[in-house]
Amino acid sequence: MPIPRRALLATAVASVVAAASIAVVGSAEAATTLGASAAQTGRYFGVATGANRFSDTAYMTIVNREFNSLVAENDMKWDATEPQQGRFNYTNGDRLVSHAQSQGMSVRGHALLWHQQQPSWAQGMSGSALRNAAINHVTQVATHFRGKIYAWDVVNEAFADGGSGGRRDSNLQRTGNDWIEAAFRAARAADPGAKLCYNDYNTDGVNAKSTGIYNMVRDFKSRGVPIDCVGLQSHLGTTLDSTYQQNIQRFADLGVDVQITELDVAQGGNQANIFAAVTRACLAVARCTGITVWGVRDSDSWRTGENPLLFDNSGNKKAAYTSVLNALNAGGPTTPGSPSPSPSTSNPPVPGGCAAQVTLNSWNGGYTATVRVSAGSSAVSNWSVAVTVPSGGAVTSTWNATNSGTSGQVTFRNVSYNGQIAAGGFTEFGFQGTGTGPTATPTCTAG
Ligand code: XIL
Repeated sequence: MPIPRRALLATAVASVVAAASIAVVGSAEAATTLGASAAQTGRYFGVATGANRFSDTAYMTIVNREFNSLVAENDMKWDATEPQQGRFNYTNGDRLVSHAQSQGMSVRGHALLWHQQQPSWAQGMSGSALRNAAINHVTQVATHFRGKIYAWDVVNEAFADGGSGGRRDSNLQRTGNDWIEAAFRAARAADPGAKLCYNDYNTDGVNAKSTGIYNMVRDFKSRGVPIDCVGLQSHLGTTLDSTYQQNIQRFADLGVDVQITELDVAQGGNQANIFAAVTRACLAVARCTGITVWGVRDSDSWRTGENPLLFDNSGNKKAAYTSVLNALNAGGPTTPGSPSPSPSTSNPPVPGGCAAQVTLNSWNGGYTATVRVSAGSSAVSNWSVAVTVPSGGAVTSTWNATNSGTSGQVTFRNVSYNGQIAAGGFTEFGFQGTGTGPTATPTCTAG
């Protein structure tokens, strides 16, 4: 049952629409899960999990209901995937990917190279032997998962804490300062479709460490080293840096996406507020494409005793959950600018008629579609859009419209607040689906 929109938001939207004198772009009927709500602005809301959790049915009920992206908390790390040199084990990583695909969820890959959780054979190596082993690891693992990963954390936690803004000492760093770019180049060659991220913690505002990373990303972009995104882990305490959003924005301004990759927040008076503020900061930056929380229930968290997650030990939604959901639902029409979606061709709207054009944000096994419905030279008072969903896939959620059917030919109709489109104006609705997204131009019918 739809929850009434809050008056404040409706007023804000109405005034923006009036100022722009275009058709109503309503806020969504409030979505009731984190994934569906994030999808309304083209984003994902993910969770860290592992194949060893898949038999816990209470846990999996929450995972499958709430999230539309998964990351392996441990299953894709170096020690898990290459326990002996040259002998790879993808059993648990593959299970995670298949589960995500069966649910139409995207997958973040975490992490190709890191100074922690290295297999013991690598810990004992140095110099060119280690460099070669590390690059081989990147190549093999990224090749194995090729086409299945939305974004890879190619390098994790390579910068030092404190004021230096420089690299952390590690066996990898001692192979030469260019180890990070070598890793990114190898990852691009192995899986050209994955977004390649640098991921780190204590980067929750403009500070010496995040500035060191910023300078590296700027350098990579200027020299053509392939990098597409920066992950801000966001393992947070009881306060949030006032420059949290500004920091996201400055990375976005370099031309990379930003993702909140491991969000958890110490329980305290501010927990719900901090979760909401992080969510709002991501939604405020078009290139902030998604948020992942680092576990489901407090009892699942690596931060034992800090109760830093959105569900309590019994799987009940905490206040922090509600604050995140509300922040997502208030997100407005800020669609991420990347991956750059290419709108399908659309038939020009005829007088008295309407036209629809689809923009897809796809990953292996799923997609979100944003559909723009445009009026021709006359106003439209009600509309329906017929979309052909490719076989094998199905629509799993819809916003700003209602759908009849979920597969084959699916018809979307306006909801109460977006049926009216002024002459020359447009409105947008969206849906999420499994499989591959629709490519044929949809048919729009007015009236
Ligand atoms: C943590 C996992 O949550 C634990 O289960 C594991 O024992 C240690 O690693 N930064 C990261 C994550 O990038 O991989 C870490 O995950 C948490 C800190």
